Amino acid sequence: MTRLVLLGLLVALPAVCQNPCASCHPKEVEGYAASGMARSVGRPTGHPEGRVVHDVSASRIVIYQSETGMRHRMVRSARTIEHDVPLFVGSGRTGRSYLAHIRGYLFQSPVSFYAARGGWAMSPGYDDDPSADFTRPVELECLQCHAGGLRPVAGTRNRYHDPAVTVEPISCARCHGRADQHMAEPSRGTIVNPARLPPRARASVCEQCHVAGEVRVPNPGLSVADFSPGMALEDVWTVYVLEREKGAAVSEVKAVSHAELLALSVCAQASEGEMWCGTCHNPHDPATDPKRYYRDRCIGCHGAELFETHDPPTDGCVRCHMPRLSANNVAHAALTDHEILRNPRKKSGGPVARRLTAWGEPPAGLRERNFGLASIEMGERYQYGSAMREGLLLLTAVQEEFPEDTEVMSAMARAHYGERRFTDSVAFLEAAIAREPDRAEHHLYLGSAYLALGRTSEAIDRFERAIELDPGREDAYLNLTALFNAINRTERAREVIRNRDDFLLDGCCGP
Ligand code: HEC
Ligand code: HEC
Ligand code: HEC
Ligand code: HEC
Ligand code: HEC
Ligand code: HEC
Ligand code: HEC
Repeated sequence: MTRLVLLGLLVALPAVCQNPCASCHPKEVEGYAASGMARSVGRPTGHPEGRVVHDVSASRIVIYQSETGMRHRMVRSARTIEHDVPLFVGSGRTGRSYLAHIRGYLFQSPVSFYAARGGWAMSPGYDDDPSADFTRPVELECLQCHAGGLRPVAGTRNRYHDPAVTVEPISCARCHGRADQHMAEPSRGTIVNPARLPPRARASVCEQCHVAGEVRVPNPGLSVADFSPGMALEDVWTVYVLEREKGAAVSEVKAVSHAELLALSVCAQASEGEMWCGTCHNPHDPATDPKRYYRDRCIGCHGAELFETHDPPTDGCVRCHMPRLSANNVAHAALTDHEILRNPRKKSGGPVARRLTAWGEPPAGLRERNFGLASIEMGERYQYGSAMREGLLLLTAVQEEFPEDTEVMSAMARAHYGERRFTDSVAFLEAAIAREPDRAEHHLYLGSAYLALGRTSEAIDRFERAIELDPGREDAYLNLTALFNAINRTERAREVIRNRDDFLLDGCCGP
């Protein structure tokens, strides 16, 4: 009996302790708890089980709840791979991704849950992948937008100090900043209220997560984890989006954010900085009656005098001016058209140029650097030689201003590699390694450059070092295997694959 009471206390206590703001701001805490942002990450306790058959990879994936929590089991030909899946990402409005925890590394599961079909299916991008499995790394950027409380292990791509599986949801601090001063002196003015920041800093609070863009380039020495409310995004990183014309069809584009669409609206442009996300969305006040809620926001600016010339609508304004973008089911794209067109049916269908443009320009001294880095990354992603060359030209011109910048060195090395100038590539990577000896990625690229120059034994050393530093990197094992096969050392090649399997498959497998 006593024991039961104690247990009850133990369970109840953290909830009370959890939020130090609740005692004075119960309404805000409760309102926020109802938003998707407060529920964007968690443990999949009680989530549905299921089964997915994937012909392209000839595999069957079973999702089930065990005594230790959710597990995903994949059966492919004679092999079974099975992992703990202690985390999900996504409140479930459109869907949820699931994260496998493998020796301290987080990987995305090949299956996701989709709200629209009410069931499990292959994760976005895995449908046509014949080798779909548990090797897609979950990098910090992903969790930086969906969670809090992360402690990544430096030099690795997706390893976290344990326990990664206790990550917290998006906290108050992500929009209000540090609260030390406010807790000592609780009053207005001792903590950030986004609504009262100057326009660029105000928009940045939401854009830190709501504008992913094509490429995000942190300023020298910074990472996406260094943003705090009150700053402008460009103080920390530049986000590059694809150029877009007003009225262009949305389904043409990979993922257009709400912010990009809103910026094209006459409402935002004509209201001269008055309009921002918070005009229509308050994270503490979920829209329980959306039609009226959003109509009130429109009328807030347009005034009731609108109805002198405009028929007063019976069911709100959104149906006509902010319709659902039905053709678009791409992950991370806006579902509701935030361009607020006079007549949304007039959207044209022209193709979209694959040209990058800065969402907000960084300080003058960083423009060429950041754009150069972005162009090279975009060039690699879509195999655009011209973007790579443009990026390399820019970086070559400004390189002397950034003599210690390993991002610049790495990007120039990759661009030179793309241009088959392997000796230059080696020189930049050796310089990067001299400054960051423990970053696996540098060793991996250097291995490839040595290999291209026929310096095989040095290439082997680099690939082995990359694996030693970051044993969760499948690409390092694959490069090394290919190299051993190419020089007919097939026994070594098999050994590398065994090592990969031992590590990434967690010794889980059998016939
Ligand atoms: C001991 C009570 C107390 C605690 C605890 C507390 N606050 Fe406050 N907070 C206040 C008071 C008082 C005000 C001023 C309200 C007013 O003037 O109407 C305030 C105002 C605010 C404002 C508005 C600031 C502005 O300039 O508009 C924000 C945002 C805020 N608090 C966030 C937080 C967060 C986040 C926490 C938890 C980390 C927190 N508060 C904890 C008492 C508290
Ligand atoms: C730390 C990252 C982060 C920040 C900062 C952030 N958001 Fe979000 N937001 C998200 C994520 C992630 C989701 C998706 C949640 C889900 O459904 O899993 C989301 C969802 C939403 C939604 C959809 C409705 C809902 O409740 O899920 C709205 C509206 C929204 N955010 C508005 C805002 C506004 C306004 C701001 C700025 C004041 C803001 N967000 C700041 C990450 C963020
Ligand atoms: C730049 C920030 C950002 C990054 C990086 C990011 N997301 Fe999101 N994600 C969002 C926001 C904001 C939303 C909700 C609104 C939207 O779709 O724009 C969202 C929505 C989602 C949803 C749908 C949630 C729901 O309930 O509808 C899933 C699932 C998801 N993200 C998974 C992931 C995974 C997994 C990763 C990394 C592998 C990732 N996201 C990377 C910001 C981000
Ligand atoms: C996604 C961003 C976001 C998150 C997360 C968030 N807030 Fe807020 N908060 C806002 C915005 C935006 C406002 C201003 C709302 C307005 O007045 O339009 C605000 C206003 C407030 C206010 C001032 C209310 C007033 O009018 O004086 C308090 C207090 C507050 N938040 C507390 C919290 C607490 C406590 C948490 C964590 C449980 C939290 N917020 C999480 C965005 C956020
Ligand atoms: C921050 C203020 C503000 C808010 C909120 C706002 N608008 Fe506007 N909107 C304007 C301004 C200013 C104009 C340009 C002058 C005009 O047409 O009244 C405009 C123009 C428009 C236009 C004409 C667009 C064109 O192509 O000529 C439409 C349609 C419109 N708004 C609909 C809406 C709807 C629907 C909502 C609510 C979902 C809304 N607005 C919310 C400020 C706002
Ligand atoms: C003029 C009002 C208005 C403004 C300003 C606005 N939104 Fe929305 N937003 C809406 C409406 C209306 C919906 C649809 C709500 C619904 O379906 O219940 C929506 C839906 C969303 C959703 C849910 C997913 C979707 O696409 O339906 C997200 C996320 C979101 N908005 C983010 C933002 C962000 C980020 C900003 C600032 C860049 C922003 N919104 C500015 C009116 C607005
Ligand atoms: C049944 C569809 C429909 C609904 C609902 C609707 N509108 Fe409109 N609205 C239109 C059309 C169509 C036009 C364009 C008329 C034209 O181009 O001659 C328009 C034009 C406008 C304009 C441009 C100025 C004008 O008077 O022509 C504004 C502003 C506007 N609407 C705001 C709103 C607001 C605010 C609401 C909600 C209170 C709303 N609309 C609801 C269809 C609608």
